[in-house]
Amino acid sequence: MGLLRIAKLRRMICYNSGKFMVVDYGGGKVKKGKYYVTTPIYYINSEPHIGSAYTTIIADVIARYKRFRRYDVFFLTGTDEHGQKVLSAALEAGKDPQVFCDELAEKFKKLWKDLEITNDYFIRTTDENHMKVVQRFVEKMMENGDIYKGKYEGWYCIPCESFWKEEELGDGKTCPQCGRPVKWVSEENYFFRLSKYRSALLKHYEENPDFVEPDFRKNEMLRILESGLQDLSITRTSFKWGVPMPRDPKHVIYVWVDALINYVSAIGYTEDDEKFERYWPADLHLIGKEINRFHSIIWPAMLMSVGLPLPRKIYAHGWLTVNGQKISKSLGNAIDPRVVVKKYGLDAVRYYLLREIAFGKDGDFSEEGLIKRINADLANDLGNLVHRTTAMIKQNFNSKVPRPSKSEGVDEKLKDSAMETISEFFDHMDSLKFTTALEKLWEFVGFSNKYIDLTEPWILAKGGDKEKERLATVLYNLSEAIRIIAVLLKSVMPNTSREILRRFGYENWDEVDETHVERWGMIKVGNPVEHGKPLFPRIDKDSERVIKMKTTDEGKREEKYAEFITIEDFSKVDLRVGKVIEAEKVEKSRKLLKLKIDLGKLGIKQIVAGIAQYYNPQDLIGKKIIVVANLKPVKLMGVESQGMLLAAQSEGKLRLLTVDGDIDAGAKIS
Ligand code: MSP
Repeated sequence: MGLLRIAKLRRMICYNSGKFMVVDYGGGKVKKGKYYVTTPIYYINSEPHIGSAYTTIIADVIARYKRFRRYDVFFLTGTDEHGQKVLSAALEAGKDPQVFCDELAEKFKKLWKDLEITNDYFIRTTDENHMKVVQRFVEKMMENGDIYKGKYEGWYCIPCESFWKEEELGDGKTCPQCGRPVKWVSEENYFFRLSKYRSALLKHYEENPDFVEPDFRKNEMLRILESGLQDLSITRTSFKWGVPMPRDPKHVIYVWVDALINYVSAIGYTEDDEKFERYWPADLHLIGKEINRFHSIIWPAMLMSVGLPLPRKIYAHGWLTVNGQKISKSLGNAIDPRVVVKKYGLDAVRYYLLREIAFGKDGDFSEEGLIKRINADLANDLGNLVHRTTAMIKQNFNSKVPRPSKSEGVDEKLKDSAMETISEFFDHMDSLKFTTALEKLWEFVGFSNKYIDLTEPWILAKGGDKEKERLATVLYNLSEAIRIIAVLLKSVMPNTSREILRRFGYENWDEVDETHVERWGMIKVGNPVEHGKPLFPRIDKDSERVIKMKTTDEGKREEKYAEFITIEDFSKVDLRVGKVIEAEKVEKSRKLLKLKIDLGKLGIKQIVAGIAQYYNPQDLIGKKIIVVANLKPVKLMGVESQGMLLAAQSEGKLRLLTVDGDIDAGAKIS
């Protein structure tokens, strides 16, 4: 984007998407253009942990920063709810997949709210609107001749929802990404002509060297492109939890194709042209390293296929470990980020994640490290700077920002250092180098503390009028330095930024933007100053830790053990062989079938079961299945169910239990 400054008016003319524009989105402040940032949409198979919160927190910092730099920001996050992995999790939880997703989506939304994430929209792939857009998108790919029917035979990893070539597999036929066993799949599928886009993609990479970052991740993609692309199987028939393929609903669309389209469906593709044109192409897709191939090869090829411009940048960050270990439920470190936030504070966690983990690389989230940063950088450096300054203003100037007079060499140094910090901070934030941006800012915090040592205000306070005049200048300069630090911290540590500015007499924090650090000397003389409690109380290094790690063995045992029941408990369940004599769909339900079951002498029972995604009603007639005959009747979608049938579930599949050979309907099972 090219920017042209018109002196004085401070208006920006932006060159954006091939157009020059000056946009005013209200409030009298001119916006520089738009900025559309996305997180991946999270699989909803389990609850989010600190690792999954990492991407969202970073995206939030970026969104807040771009708003601060006066962009018209759209920040998107959401949940990825289709596919075998989510289906299996729902079935394992004994829940209807939609009910399961509804519950988990609420948990994600609540987490982001508790973490004060400022997303503009939350997309769910089970939203009707999204599903419609997915079908239209795929239809457009078809119209362009990019989809054909063929047979897929190969290896599939359900946890990663990824296809792999034989030669890519790890030892013992395992997924090269997560190390878990892959599954042989053989199905008639629709395919996307991904191979057709290889040279166009290579050209795009060449012409847009910043398309994929960091560089070493881009090189990985280039190696894949150079070694050739295979067409991609984009539908499945072995389960139904997905978006039906247009004109062939026996197939559901591959979860990754469905998921990637969220980035355009969320901003109104084929539904709201104005909004779509306002925000597309995305300026930044923020993702983790393991899903780079989907975003940097498959997604751009899909966009080329439907004739849409490609995103400006894809940034693949590294992975977090917690206390040095891979995040895993069984190790006890897949903790809810709120637990850490509750003890140490949201801003401290945000600061730590950005400062400690070099963005782009793998890094470790350690509680010890967090405590060290809080005590050193926050309590000692920043906290003390604010505390000392406000205390001296309270004692010597009746809690008002004093009027400065003649400046000396050291004052000029502080001012120059502030101006240099602002410009370097912006440069590093613009290039997503958060660690360096914060290092620079903390150098300035350090220099401000040093300025106190050099100017010795405690000695000036004891002197006569001349010294008092000098003290006023020193404390004015310190107030201004602190104001600048707080303004720059707006996107990284919003609550701290707001609190510091409030203590220096600024109540309109929401309106604070880059124009508030345009020059030195913007703090108002006479502003009320509050000397409050320390901003960051020191954490006792021996205090109790919130991340309690288990040993690998402990973790494993806990996962395996189930509760014992007695034979008496078991005998309470009246299990019978039942013959299916009628089967039909329950009206308005995608999941339920209504069955009439012959139970011999027990008569005929009606059972409603959530198996419509796995069985056609007519295929069930005549089958002898296993039924819990003494279950208390319930109503499902208004239809009475007088029992339950037994089924086995694994990896997105469901199979009914039957008997081995012929036996009368009603036979008792023990
Ligand atoms: N549903 C897909 C994304 C579809 S986007 C069109 C998916 N979901 S995920 O839940 O498995 O991962 C979502 C994001 O969380 C990824 O960017 C992933 O890298 C990130 N993280 C999950 N665990 C993580 C860590 N331990 N550390 C850092 N990020 C990690 O993939």
